[in-house]
Amino acid sequence: MLILNKTAGVFFKPSRRKIYEFLGSFHFHPGKLFLHKLVLGIETSCDDTAAAVVDEAGNVLGEAIHSQTEVHLKTGGIIPPVAQQLHRENIQRIVQEALSASEVSPSELSAIATTIKPGLALSLGVGLSFSLQLVDQFKKPFIPIHHMEAHALTIRLTNTVEFPFLVLLISGGHCLLALVRGVSDFLLLGKSLDIAPGDMLDKVARRLSLIKHPECSTMSGGKAIEHLAKQGNRMHFDFQPPMQRAKNCDFSFSGLQHVIDKMIMRKEKEEGIEQGQILSSAADIAAAVQHTVACHIAKRTHRAILFCKQRGLLRPSNAVLVVSGGVASNLYIRKALEIVTNATQCTLLCPPARLCTDNGIMIAWNGVERLRAGLGILHNTEGIRYEPKCPLGVDISKEVGEAAIKVPRLKMKI
Ligand code: KG4
Ligand code: ZN
Repeated sequence: MLILNKTAGVFFKPSRRKIYEFLGSFHFHPGKLFLHKLVLGIETSCDDTAAAVVDEAGNVLGEAIHSQTEVHLKTGGIIPPVAQQLHRENIQRIVQEALSASEVSPSELSAIATTIKPGLALSLGVGLSFSLQLVDQFKKPFIPIHHMEAHALTIRLTNTVEFPFLVLLISGGHCLLALVRGVSDFLLLGKSLDIAPGDMLDKVARRLSLIKHPECSTMSGGKAIEHLAKQGNRMHFDFQPPMQRAKNCDFSFSGLQHVIDKMIMRKEKEEGIEQGQILSSAADIAAAVQHTVACHIAKRTHRAILFCKQRGLLRPSNAVLVVSGGVASNLYIRKALEIVTNATQCTLLCPPARLCTDNGIMIAWNGVERLRAGLGILHNTEGIRYEPKCPLGVDISKEVGEAAIKVPRLKMKI
């Protein structure tokens, strides 16, 4: 058995020749025997270049991540060609760091799992072409990964959770409620009809110029809102949760965002300040925005739980709700969801914060799950393409809406 014991130089824009140089720079020598299957996971669907090696038992042997958040914060959002360039500059180093930290050589891997859908086309392309070169060089099976499936299954790495369970995925790019019936068996109950909650929080934070706030300058928009909300009084503003009359599990955030934008403009006039300066009421606005978003998410999730229970899709007792994605690290939103799960006798589970945001571990773990289930393991990658848009599972959101379940009012005292 061989282990890897060398780090190579960093290249930009890895070409096929450079990949071979990179691979050739590793020294192999006799080492430990791996009893479990090993999967390398590679993630580049959005603005994080991430890789990890996870074994069949769920042990994380090594990981590495390069976040582009700081760059994108400065430009006020993700510019796809910039994201692509940063992925190109970092993917080789990140994969190499994950392998080196794991003390695993590419030849010892059982498979390579990579996010191929959904996501930014230019970003997905970097991870896919890099992975296919590794697959080709080391003659390894390839496991294409759906980014949202990976978020949904992460909880099974950290907790003992049997199928079926309900999952709420809330991040900067996605917002959905789904029933997870198996490794590759999802029922989509509802999704955002416009933007995702993280995207909305990022836009509000930008409109409030929180990047100029001394306490928030390095935080993502959502984190900045959560941070500032703690210092504010939500009662000073009254934003109505969206879609109160639609008895389905869909979400909407762009209407609310416009209402908030108008409110900010009014306040700027009142306070006599220019756009770009921080309002004295920024913390109150942050608190009210966070509360409204939490109530909206909680209500839709409550209806999804009731629907699943009514149809016998979830266990009647001890049903599990998993919440993941970047916005799931928001403790206020988690508390709102806890009120819902307490009222419906469900267990609320969230992966640890670092596994809620994009990472390589969740991709490697999804690879392990697929390897164990014998699902979607490719020995021939001809014709494999990335898919920027790709729905999750079977969409039954229309049926959920037709059930028109009335959700009892819960006191959101957080
Ligand atoms: O899952 P993620 O890393 O990337 C994808 O969007 O797929 O999520 C990033 C999003 C950003 O919109 C960010 O503002 C939001 O998650 N976020 C938060 C918090 N931390 C990150 N939103 C609310 N509260 C937080 N503490
Ligand atoms: Zn994500």
